[in-house]
Amino acid sequence: MIYKSLLVMGRMPGLGRAELESLYGAVHLAAAGEHAVLSDVPSSQIDFARLGGSVKLADVVTVVKNHDWRTVQSELSRQAVKLAQDLAEGKVQLGVSVYGLSVGTRPLLAAGLEIKKALRSHGYSVRLTPNQEPALSSAQVLHNHLTGERGIELLAVRHGQQTVIARTTHVQDIPGYAARDQNRPKRDARVGMLPPKLAQTIVNLATGPLPAAHENIVLDPFCGTGVVLQEAGLMGYGMYGTDLEPRMVDYTRANLAWLAERARVPQPLLEIGDATTHPWQTGRVTVIACETYLGRPLSNWPRPETLREIIGTCNVIIEKFLDNISAQIAPGTRLCLAVPAWRAPDGRIHHLPLLDHLEKMGYNRMSFEHASEEQLVYFRPDQLVAREMLVITRN
Ligand SMILES: C[S@@+](CC[C@H](N)C(=O)[O-])C[C@H]1O[C@@H](n2cnc3c(N)ncnc32)[C@H](O)[C@@H]1O
Repeated sequence: MIYKSLLVMGRMPGLGRAELESLYGAVHLAAAGEHAVLSDVPSSQIDFARLGGSVKLADVVTVVKNHDWRTVQSELSRQAVKLAQDLAEGKVQLGVSVYGLSVGTRPLLAAGLEIKKALRSHGYSVRLTPNQEPALSSAQVLHNHLTGERGIELLAVRHGQQTVIARTTHVQDIPGYAARDQNRPKRDARVGMLPPKLAQTIVNLATGPLPAAHENIVLDPFCGTGVVLQEAGLMGYGMYGTDLEPRMVDYTRANLAWLAERARVPQPLLEIGDATTHPWQTGRVTVIACETYLGRPLSNWPRPETLREIIGTCNVIIEKFLDNISAQIAPGTRLCLAVPAWRAPDGRIHHLPLLDHLEKMGYNRMSFEHASEEQLVYFRPDQLVAREMLVITRN
């Protein structure tokens, strides 16, 4: 494979890889260590804005045949001088990030100064963003304009015995995500706060390579405050949401109306409905993407009988939902459900029992070449209720 682009994964690398695999296909990807993915798809053909699991997109510049830091460092200098020729006039904004190479911040800083010297000797004035960690954060890249018209962020990424050198073209839109998350008129801590980035991943796992067109409709049968639909709409899909609670449907309506004032999104279709019995207008549904009912939020690990009861309740609702919708959708229809999983203090994960008999229920669970099932479980370190990404197709 000829590597053309490189993506740096976010906090849950396995989920980021599964998302890329869903959109671009396993054969176009190769993991470069735990935190990066190489692809033969050019960066210009990667729709970075819709990726929730990747934090940087870069063009591969060259591959060094080993991972000797001295060799890598002189290649970084050479490439920086080459790239600087195409920058706009003015001071060069420079940054260096390494992934998977054993280089401390001191030698990295020294390398940064060497690159700066090389650029200076070619007549450029340079401002170096100092590394506090081997890799600069997205916030640092943004703040220091390293993807701007005078910016260069060089990445050195270990890939087996080789080192890939790449140049960042895009970095995650931190202010955009924050605005979509925090400025929406209706939020509800009780139904949980689905981060927009995770909602993007849910949609991407559901749609696969399906083109983002208004007639390709994403249905969320547990729409809550509408984060999944918001992200599907921003990608260009049609939006169809239902929820048991009329108040939640009102919240989604208000949030999507707010979104429509700020971005070009289609008109959503919204209904009140119990997902275990609702008859959807499924002639219009292409994929299903949702965060299901997650059970009650937990601040302490419950007693075994309480946990059994919580898991049982969620299991019944989600199983009945899958049973109800299976009769209404065409074979091959793909679903991504973020379902609850419970993380015990000893790290053990309790899964929904229905995961063990999906086939009997008429569904096939999709597996990913670049992510294991365990890696499809999303959680923050302090969370007892995790979200497990269940990607299935109807038989
Ligand atoms: C975890 S929340 C989803 C939150 C949503 N992702 C958002 O953006 O706010 C689960 C939602 O499922 C709804 N719900 C629970 N049981 C349901 C059922 N049987 N049918 C439909 N919706 C249900 C709740 O009202 C709640 O809004």
